[in-house]
Amino acid sequence: MTVGLRGRPLRGRFLHAPERGGLETLDDAILLIGDDGAIAALARPGEAAHAELAGRPDLVALPAGRLVLPGMVDLHVHAPQYPQLGQALDVPLEAWLHKYTFPLEARYADLDFARSRYEVLVADLLAAGTTTALYFATVHRETSELLARICLDRGQRALVGKVAMDDPAACPPDCRDASPEAAVAETRAFIAAVRALPGNDRVLPVVTPRFIPSCTDAALAGLGALAAECGCHIQTHCSESDWAHAHALARYGVTDTAALDAFGLLTRRTVLAHSVYLTEADMATIAGRGTGIAHCALSNVYFGNAVFPLRRALERGLHVGLGTDISGGPSASMFEACRSTVQVSRLLEDGVDATVSRETRGTPHSRIDMLTAFHLATAGGGVALDLPIGLFRPGYQFDALVLDPEAAGGSIRLFGETEPMAVLEKVLHTAGPANIAAVYVSGECISPRPILSPGPSR
Ligand code: GUN
Ligand code: FE
Repeated sequence: MTVGLRGRPLRGRFLHAPERGGLETLDDAILLIGDDGAIAALARPGEAAHAELAGRPDLVALPAGRLVLPGMVDLHVHAPQYPQLGQALDVPLEAWLHKYTFPLEARYADLDFARSRYEVLVADLLAAGTTTALYFATVHRETSELLARICLDRGQRALVGKVAMDDPAACPPDCRDASPEAAVAETRAFIAAVRALPGNDRVLPVVTPRFIPSCTDAALAGLGALAAECGCHIQTHCSESDWAHAHALARYGVTDTAALDAFGLLTRRTVLAHSVYLTEADMATIAGRGTGIAHCALSNVYFGNAVFPLRRALERGLHVGLGTDISGGPSASMFEACRSTVQVSRLLEDGVDATVSRETRGTPHSRIDMLTAFHLATAGGGVALDLPIGLFRPGYQFDALVLDPEAAGGSIRLFGETEPMAVLEKVLHTAGPANIAAVYVSGECISPRPILSPGPSR
């Protein structure tokens, strides 16, 4: 049994982090989900609306012990790289692209190859609790459209980009746009096709220059203009590693951030992956544009050569969310992304070289706590994408996970804790797939496993 919630009230314990550093617990609350999948009303115990909703015959009541969290928002996924998740991490970024990644991505010219991989990825990410994903596909328009269709068919909220990469000096012939004009024209056609998908209420096209080293100036300028014309989201990589950061400096004499801005690629709807080496001026530019950042802590361990100064970025007002960076980061789980975010921030704060004195070893005031990581993985992702997702408020889409800490085969062990922060911390640190009892996007239950107590079905 899968219970759709559109038009129905849902009663249970909801935990969310609308603001950085603040956990809000809605105990025994009732959310009324509208026919459009958005939260229409929120009622707390004692309120008149609560008593009224509690009496409705179509009320869905969660069993005691279940927790409802906002769905995870993964701000950086390379969909075609899923087959190499957990492999091929032995060389630096610039070698990894040519040795492993471009040859794999070239295979997505083939529809059958792409379909079989993309189907598995989208199903796996939903089961892992990722209700929204910002995807890089590949250079191929047809199979990038296929990825968008699969997300829509499976019910995942997704933002999908056909990757633009046109520089013959940097991209192999079988993984390259034919020219700058082709990169722009194919992106334009992709945007139109995704927007025209029948019944599309949740998949958006994204203008996606891979990163400056893969693109000619003509393509970058053309894509900036196209995004402005179409009002699309934009995604790219920014200052990911020593090599990538140095590339822009050598080519333009300015940072990645400044160069992307000059091409019109920094907007309120842009998400920059990584951005490890931002200067203070870069941060001011990004804050001024309202541009988002996808912090990919685990990937940065392998390819970043340093730790992103997350806390500094947050204190400068940047819109930061979290990304797995499949397959640069060898985990598809946003729960794991929360853990990595906390862990690397602790390494940044303390420093890592035991031969250096404690006083100078680290970067003070860098640590991030789990509640902040949770906020970034949910509400923060929503802000970065400029979408009403990631928290439980009227007007926000009901994208949510039902957690069952006591699920058979699960990995959470509670020993009588009930205090919300204690429970949440344990859930985020120790939950496994079996603990995710149900996944909702836009009020629709899209996970295969049923969880809700029976109520009259619609
Ligand atoms: N920079 C350009 N392409 C990629 C990619 O596929 N993965 C990562 N991590 N960085 C990139
Ligand atoms: Fe990436």
